[in-house]
Amino acid sequence: MVRHTIIYDTDPGIDDAMALLLALRSPEIAIAGVTTVFGNSNVEATTRNALNLLYLAGRPDIPVAKGAAQPMVLPLGQTGEFVHGDDAMGNIGWTHLLDPRLRPLDQPAAQFIVETVMANPGQITLVAVGPLTNLALALQLEPRIAQAVRNVVIMGGSVLAPGNVSPTAEANIHNDPHAAALVFGTGWDLTMVGLDVTTAVHMDEAFFDELRRSGHPFGRFIGQIIPCYQQFHRERYGYENGAVDTHDPSAIAYLIDPTLFEGQDWSVVVPVDGPAKGTTIADRRGHFLTTPKVRCLMKVDEARFLEMFKARLIA
Ligand code: RIB
Ligand code: CA
Repeated sequence: MVRHTIIYDTDPGIDDAMALLLALRSPEIAIAGVTTVFGNSNVEATTRNALNLLYLAGRPDIPVAKGAAQPMVLPLGQTGEFVHGDDAMGNIGWTHLLDPRLRPLDQPAAQFIVETVMANPGQITLVAVGPLTNLALALQLEPRIAQAVRNVVIMGGSVLAPGNVSPTAEANIHNDPHAAALVFGTGWDLTMVGLDVTTAVHMDEAFFDELRRSGHPFGRFIGQIIPCYQQFHRERYGYENGAVDTHDPSAIAYLIDPTLFEGQDWSVVVPVDGPAKGTTIADRRGHFLTTPKVRCLMKVDEARFLEMFKARLIA
């Protein structure tokens, strides 16, 4: 039944939490470990949130490895509390571990990625839904992971959709453009689940209400953390009816059912400075760039996606 054994690299984060719960409810997916990174908050908070989420979900057996506290080259910029709340989990008061015995591995995230991938050649899918720093550090530590990994799926970037932290850049790429440039230039089997599809799937208040009323603890938890995220989308984008973009769950949805999406293979480069910093520039003509091809998801079946998510979370 398991079709993908993943390392989930994440900065939880409300949508990161939703994606993790979706993965935990999907028999096709086994989680070999969760690695954390700065992004939606500092790495102390995102690691605490990862540990708390797995504990609440009844899966404290899944190892958590703490990762990068800052980008590879640039200083740490603004983290995402203005979107995800002071605790990066919708202001539910997660200032502490839910069980004081919870702790991350002694191994840093990049080392965990290297050891797990090298011990399981051709088996591991890296799913990264935060800044790509841990993946880039792992590549520097052991370049052979590029051949040993099965594939890499990232939530980040955009081909045609407007950026969400600059006119053209998406947050995860912009937060560490040097790491992204390395990841995009490596020539491994890479799929970019970017804003082109993640801003085309909207969950709204009626949807969240159904999750809450289902009585399933995962649905109720999403109903609890989501208001903060809804408020951000209302104030920043004028979204109505409590609608939000479905960023990180889209990466997991792609693994569960790739037929939900359509994509194309293009070379993608990432400028590391200047006004286009952190933009994923795709050569849609196929004439100009010779860098490795990346599968860029461009279309999504929103209705089927939402049905699948709901069925998984409340069944
Ligand atoms: O741009 C959206 C991405 O940035 C998501 O992964 C969200 O969780 C934040 O990390
Ligand atoms: Ca994220």
